[in-house]
Amino acid sequence: MNTIVITGASSGIGLETARILTRQGFNVLGVSRSEDNCKKAEENILSENPNARISFFVADLMQQREVVRVAEEIILYLNEHCDGELYALINNAGCVRSWYMTTEEGYEQQFAINHLAGFLLTYKLLPALMKVRGCVIMTGSDSHKGIRVHWSDVMLRRRYNPLTAYKQSKLCNILFAKGLNDRYAAAGIRAYVVDPGLVKTDIGNKETGSLVNFIWTLRKRHGVTPDIPAKTYAFLCEQKNKLEGLYYYLCKEKSYSKQVTSENANRLFELSERLCDISYEKVRMI
Ligand SMILES: NC(=O)c1ccc[n+]([C@@H]2O[C@H](COP(=O)([O-])OP(=O)(O)OC[C@H]3O[C@@H](n4cnc5c(N)ncnc54)[C@H](OP(=O)(O)O)[C@@H]3O)[C@@H](O)[C@H]2O)c1
Repeated sequence: MNTIVITGASSGIGLETARILTRQGFNVLGVSRSEDNCKKAEENILSENPNARISFFVADLMQQREVVRVAEEIILYLNEHCDGELYALINNAGCVRSWYMTTEEGYEQQFAINHLAGFLLTYKLLPALMKVRGCVIMTGSDSHKGIRVHWSDVMLRRRYNPLTAYKQSKLCNILFAKGLNDRYAAAGIRAYVVDPGLVKTDIGNKETGSLVNFIWTLRKRHGVTPDIPAKTYAFLCEQKNKLEGLYYYLCKEKSYSKQVTSENANRLFELSERLCDISYEKVRMI
């Protein structure tokens, strides 16, 4: 049974990706923050496909202790039902903010959920992925172009601009994928980033101020429905032989920012390890 974990599977792109992957016969483990939304998403998928293999795990991925807790629950599930194997991890949960807001650890929220949560969850689930030479897929965005990582103030505490914080977090997604490939491609792991394009979801209408809310309501009208980007995740997951590319849009490779170098990827890896208090080096030795 090939199992795939998808974060942020209770709505938008994550929900449609869960739907398409269950249709393809994968066993999908969705992760999201609200018990109610998880229940509705599960019922929604099962109502049109009663044979779908779908389960949800509730966790607020904004908090590192919750990422660690849910990772442990998932590992128990995998050991019990899937021989401890994980075929793919899709780090998709994300948010948009209007103001500087922090997590329990004092980290800027867009950086925390859009990047650090996936960084920490991947670390925890890497041994299960390594068992089957699995893959890790990040939901990125073309907004990663035209920005660099603000190394001296990665949380943008000194001068906060929510759009800059969002774009930087999306650059981090692709740098993280590059860092994973640099370290683990030899062990059979591949990491990819999907650019979903502009998608009609409610991301800009959740916990944002009235201006961002208004702008997003107008902007999303021009977006595609979430089943369109979902096809790219399905395309990456169904490959028998791993593809060599890094960044994909509409099932095709796409060019990415020149900021995506091994040097920047290493720097982000080291910074993120410190912020999560982990060392990927240890997983290498397993
Ligand atoms: N929409 C676009 O045009 C677009 C473009 C480029 C990239 N993206 C990226 O696509 C990804 C998915 O976004 P979307 O557009 O599909 O928006 P969405 O419908 O709001 O989906 C976000 C998902 O993340 C979950 N989530 C939010 N905060 C969480 C937390 N603290 N802990 C756990 N789960 C949490 C949400 O749960 P709830 O259902 O409870 O809200 C939801 O399931 C994001 O990474 C976003 O940056 C979107």
